[in-house]
Amino acid sequence: MSDITQDFFREIGISKGMTVLDVGCGRGVTTEMLAEIVGSEGKVVGLDSNPRALNAALMQAKAKNLHHIEYLASDLMDVKLGDRKFDAIVGRRVLKYVSNPRQAIEQLANHLKPNGIMGFQEHDSTSVIDKENMPLHHEVNSWFWKLVESNGGNPTIGKEIWSIFNHDSISVRNIKPEAIVQTPENEVSLIPLLQNLSGLLVAKGIVTENELNAELIEKLESEKKQSNSIFIRELIFFVDAQKHGASRLA
Ligand SMILES: C[S@@+](CC[C@H](N)C(=O)[O-])C[C@H]1O[C@@H](n2cnc3c(N)ncnc32)[C@H](O)[C@@H]1O
Repeated sequence: MSDITQDFFREIGISKGMTVLDVGCGRGVTTEMLAEIVGSEGKVVGLDSNPRALNAALMQAKAKNLHHIEYLASDLMDVKLGDRKFDAIVGRRVLKYVSNPRQAIEQLANHLKPNGIMGFQEHDSTSVIDKENMPLHHEVNSWFWKLVESNGGNPTIGKEIWSIFNHDSISVRNIKPEAIVQTPENEVSLIPLLQNLSGLLVAKGIVTENELNAELIEKLESEKKQSNSIFIRELIFFVDAQKHGASRLA
């Protein structure tokens, strides 16, 4: 099945035999996508500061016999990679949690080979909601971004995305925005997200158990059908940057 992240990795030039670093890899979803692309002749290193997520990722890679994946526990602001260099460094939904993403990218660029690729996918709270016709969607969507903020995330990282990736040693080749559009008819919906994150929303005090009742789901469904409008809950920015070649660095 095609996936927008996997398509993006291929589009920016990640291919068989490459060595790739996946920062903020979490439980290894993107790391495994990369492992499939680079094949067993390549190598993928997943890095994350959360040892529990890394442990789950490691167990999964072992169970699937993905011997060309390595996991490293490290903070992105202080990576300990010695003189290791990669063909590509990527990350998905991680920079918004980092205290100084511009500095993190500048440091990571030291671990890219000349002409190496950087590819990051970041989500931003910029949304298009017909507030008058879809007040409930507006409200529920704001809960998710409150959750991101309560985890130290920056919901409006989009406006910084160009400056984060422009340095003496690397520059942006392309920034591609993408939006997922809910119409009154299609399958895109806030409801699965709500079902997945309800425990966390309550634990963080963003909503109460009472607010998250079956009626809410019905109301969202009927608002969707009756709105005659579209709903975009976030913008996704795909950033394609490249390290300069050896001659430019000299
Ligand atoms: C929203 S999850 C995304 C996980 C994975 N990239 C994906 O898309 O499935 C964000 C991840 O970034 C990691 N993270 C956040 N700040 C970090 C930091 N300073 N250094 C390393 N990892 C970090 C978190 O531990 C978490 O696993």
